[in-house]
Amino acid sequence: MQDRILVTGGAGFIGSNFILQSMQDSSCSIINLDKLTYAGNLRNLESIAGNRRYVFVQGDIGDRKLVSQLLAEQTPAAVVHFAAESHVDRSIRGPEDFIRTNVNGTFSLLEESRAYWGNLSEEDRSHFRFLHVSTDEVYGSLRPDDPPFSERTPYAPNSPYAASKASSDHLVRAYHQTFGLPTLTTNCSNNYGRFQFPEKLIPLIILNARDGKPLPVYGDGKNVRDWLFVGDHCEAIATVLRKGRPGDTYNIGGWNEKPNIEIVETICDLVDEMAPGKSPSRRELITYVKDRPGHDRRYAMDASKIERELGWRPKETLESGLRKTVRWYLENHDWVAGVTSGSYRQWIATHYSA
Ligand code: NAD
Ligand code: DAU
Repeated sequence: MQDRILVTGGAGFIGSNFILQSMQDSSCSIINLDKLTYAGNLRNLESIAGNRRYVFVQGDIGDRKLVSQLLAEQTPAAVVHFAAESHVDRSIRGPEDFIRTNVNGTFSLLEESRAYWGNLSEEDRSHFRFLHVSTDEVYGSLRPDDPPFSERTPYAPNSPYAASKASSDHLVRAYHQTFGLPTLTTNCSNNYGRFQFPEKLIPLIILNARDGKPLPVYGDGKNVRDWLFVGDHCEAIATVLRKGRPGDTYNIGGWNEKPNIEIVETICDLVDEMAPGKSPSRRELITYVKDRPGHDRRYAMDASKIERELGWRPKETLESGLRKTVRWYLENHDWVAGVTSGSYRQWIATHYSA
């Protein structure tokens, strides 16, 4: 692991898990640059707030002066770039922030990283890495019998979110090909685990099931996603940072393809078991609602390259990971109360009204 890392978007779901895990597993220092949008939450990082190996800076990746200053002052050996607008439904209601942060923000970060890297000593230049965290959604949608996405699958993004991430992936590729910046790109499937904002399927269903509210399932509930426990994703990123080949991309997945309705039913059963309610089964709360426009039918990841070349494989099973996740949301009342007030309620009211 590089000893000093600039992490962007480290107050979000995956970024905060990555920071906590990296600081526990290695002696690295972390500078966390995060704008603190609705999705950023410093509570996730409370346990390291006073740690001398950790610095938090509130700011926008698109603020080039700030990024340039941070790089010059903190002299990181790597940038790990999580910062993004990440929710597909929000990108459908309002794509502009997605272009601003995911495309223009990534461009700014690349430009400043290139300038910084260009001024390093030869030895430091050879060790520097820019790791871009991306998604399987850039590959589009699979039919039932298609093989899973590999690193060679052509890009075919379908939502404004996916298109913005695809654009950023192309920029990262171009900065390697044209300028030689030592980039790494990871494309990962759906994550789940602690600290995920409850606009996303799994935490939304856990909390609604806990509270006896309707469980909204889009369309026929048969859209398929591949699920990966967030701790496994963070380990994969650390592995790519340590051992990945500059210029390469790595698919990361859980080998866990499931239709949404199966995930929702499993959560209902786990909530019934851990927090018995009045009705015999939370499954009674399942409500089919209007489909997401352009809803990708199926994602599946071929994660054999990262296993073959770098020796990473997920450790958590879907069963054990979901059990841990349901328990975490049921036990962490303060965290949940903190994120489900104000603007969250407004989003739920607008998005799920007929
Ligand atoms: P998230 O929405 O939980 O967190 C995003 C973080 O970025 C927040 O802390 C937010 O404040 C910060 N941010 C947003 N705009 C910013 C800006 N302009 N400048 C600085 N900070 C800004 O997202 P997540 O689910 O943790 O996803 C992290 C990354 O991983 C994203 O790039 C996403 O595309 C990618 N990804 C996510 C998943 C998933 O299942 N969640 C899967 C694959 C890839
Ligand atoms: O595949 C990786 C991507 O996974 C990441 O790049 C994104 O940042 C992340 O948000 C996630 O995107 P999805 O759109 O797949 O995740 P979401 O949790 O929003 O939805 C998962 C599936 O559940 C999807 O098929 C839509 C469906 N769904 C979602 C919500 C919020 C429902 O049926 N009902 C809902 O209320």
